[in-house]
Amino acid sequence: TETLREYAGKRHRNIGVAVHNSFFMDGTNEQYLKILKEEFNTVVAENATKPYMMEPERGTFVFSRADKLAGFAEQNGMKMRGHCLVWHKQIPKWMNNDQLSQEELLSVLKEYITTVVGHLKGKVYAWDVVNEAIDENEPDHYRKSVWMKVIGPGYIDSAFVWAHQADPDALLFYNDYGAEAMNAKSDAVYELVKGMKDRGIPIDGVGLQCHFQVGKIDFDGLKKNMQRLEDLGLQTQITELDISIDTGKENAQTLKQQADAYGKLARIWLEDQNCTAFMIWGLSDQYSWIPSFSNNKRGTPLLWDENFNKKPAYYQVLNQLKEA
Ligand code: G3I
Repeated sequence: TETLREYAGKRHRNIGVAVHNSFFMDGTNEQYLKILKEEFNTVVAENATKPYMMEPERGTFVFSRADKLAGFAEQNGMKMRGHCLVWHKQIPKWMNNDQLSQEELLSVLKEYITTVVGHLKGKVYAWDVVNEAIDENEPDHYRKSVWMKVIGPGYIDSAFVWAHQADPDALLFYNDYGAEAMNAKSDAVYELVKGMKDRGIPIDGVGLQCHFQVGKIDFDGLKKNMQRLEDLGLQTQITELDISIDTGKENAQTLKQQADAYGKLARIWLEDQNCTAFMIWGLSDQYSWIPSFSNNKRGTPLLWDENFNKKPAYYQVLNQLKEA
């Protein structure tokens, strides 16, 4: 049978999926693993390589999960993305502490990045170095995370510099949501990364998360934004794609709309050699973060349904890959 991976491979394109927590607890079923390696050539951990998992206590690094995924990727000829080094969520309590001095938090951050990126050197081909640092509603556009509050905006440049020192070959990304099309947030992201380029900071690209809803996607705006980032000399990647449907409205028509949207996005990716990955945020609807996050107002956002049956959206992505 035909697979996404087969056609993506022919076109030398990266197509991937976020790997669920159960994989790291040996709780993933055979069907899940089979689909994962047959259909995709790239993986990223949905949660397991975030700081709360990697350095739960200060100075105690836990590499087992990251190593497990890196080993799986290597065994199956897949690439791995690293997600994510600096974020305001899913950091251990001891780190998320604005009582630490600036000097101390800087050294915590430097040690974290140097240790984690160094450990996975050559295994992770691209890192989300800084995730979701922009809040376009703040006067200065910086989210008031512990990093911003204690260190100031310079933490972003520093994180990229340290990551680059630890693995000069890894691609380094700034990653965010809601900044896919042309809007106030993507303008702020653009200003941030333009400034970084001007200052000679080693940033390779911008991750566009793409947590979308059926019927609410601005495809032309997305293309324009991708183009302006390319004009800055940056790659783009679609890093966390899912397209949810309102609960109660899952029917043949909305599943078809969802499929068409996935197809259009796959086409945008395939037509743009500067958009270097197409990553879907989960494999089966059974494991998606969307229902619990939305209080069950939305769901069914992925390519496989809860029973691992391929949905219309799967076939649309496959068709785009075949036609590309
Ligand atoms: O591990 C605990 C478990 O012990 C407990 O029983 C359970 C009860 O709720 O919670 C579990 O933790 C959850 C964790 O996922 C692991 O499943 C958290 O509550 C839950 O908030 C957390 O959600 C993750 C979310 O990031 C956190 O903000 C999602 O799985 C993950 O998909 C999501 O991923 C983010 C990207 O990293 C960045 N971009 C946005 C994207 C979606 O929010």
